Amino acid sequence: MPHIAVLGGDGIGPEVTRAALTVLRAVRDDIAFEHCLFGGAGLAAGLPAFPESTRVACERADAVLFGAVGDARFDTLPPSERPESALLAIRRHFELYANVRPARVLPGAQRVSPLRPEVLAGADLVVVRELAGGLYYGEPKARYARDGVRAAVDTLAYDEREIERVVRVAFDLARTRRRRLTSVDKSNVLETSRLWRAVVCEVAASYPDVALEHLLVDTAAMHLVCRPSRFDVMVTENTFGDILSDEAAAIAGSIGALPSASFGDARNSCGGRFGLYEPIAGSAPDIAGKNRANPIGAMLSAGMLLEASLADVDGNRRIVDAVEHVLEAGIATPDMDPSPERAVSTTEFTEHVVNALVSVAAC
Ligand code: NAD
Ligand code: IPM
Ligand code: MN
Repeated sequence: MPHIAVLGGDGIGPEVTRAALTVLRAVRDDIAFEHCLFGGAGLAAGLPAFPESTRVACERADAVLFGAVGDARFDTLPPSERPESALLAIRRHFELYANVRPARVLPGAQRVSPLRPEVLAGADLVVVRELAGGLYYGEPKARYARDGVRAAVDTLAYDEREIERVVRVAFDLARTRRRRLTSVDKSNVLETSRLWRAVVCEVAASYPDVALEHLLVDTAAMHLVCRPSRFDVMVTENTFGDILSDEAAAIAGSIGALPSASFGDARNSCGGRFGLYEPIAGSAPDIAGKNRANPIGAMLSAGMLLEASLADVDGNRRIVDAVEHVLEAGIATPDMDPSPERAVSTTEFTEHVVNALVSVAAC
């Protein structure tokens, strides 16, 4: 029986994860779920943000479904103890170097997007973000005093192997799509970007069937809002990918609607890939506990889990179809409804998706 570790985490994390689990259970009745403490929820229980018991459960699991971390009560802790440190630690622990963040226009996104409908039209892209290196992890990383004033340093470092492995994931993905890859860097300024670009060009020799372009990150950010349909797969380093994928969320209609999957090289006992699946958004403290969070990012993440970790392509398709069916009926949470006062709650939206799953299955 497939075994999934469930890390709800903080803020809206448990709410949207609950919604995703409700949908997963409606699609499959043969999955064992193990709930684990993570982030601020771990700290509140007197444990570290990434407790040992959670690490062991994730190591036993075929995949991990995660909500969000971040809790202002713990913002004054040292960086290595904060809720966010748990996320950095789990990504590194499992060497999850490729973070796949698909963004395409969901039904009804035109009603709430800051982009004009004709600009949004046809947008369907995937950001492949390097996730296990770069500024997030480079050493030295410290605060110090220089000439009596406060100073700080973060280090941006990559080696060629770290670049090559994530770039290969992006080329392979492009082959399953429209065969276009945009590599995003800052090679007019950064040495790491010059190495990045050189490695991308070398890897490209093995993918003559994929059209490759290089863009500087500032230009890429501009094109993303002016003509998102020009992109198919984008690959970039950790920090650029974090920022560009939040920008890409406008395409889906809301930051709450974007899913993600993170992979290393590990396989699981189901013959699939071991992965960590999470909406790209955070713990959204401003709406936590109000039953108004958009659960689509979490639901679509659960769909990606079915496809990549449990080899259940049909299960993923059913979740995507059900979510779209509900959105096409004009039903949405407040962030994706032009009349938020008429919008449905997280749990109501989830019921609609479950009903859609049942009615689509009955056809
Ligand atoms: P955020 O993504 O939590 O929220 C940004 C805005 O988007 C807020 O207005 C929020 O209400 C809205 N939003 C986010 N998810 C939504 C959803 N599902 N439905 C509707 N609206 C949604 O970013 P932030 O406010 O900058 O950060 C809050 C906390 O989350 C911080 O502690 C931060 O470190 C953490 N964070 C965690 C993750 C993660 O766990 N992967 C990602 C980003 C931020
Ligand atoms: C994300 C988040 C995280 C990141 C934070 C919470 C560490 O913003 O998953 O996009 O920057 O990777
Ligand atoms: Mn982010």
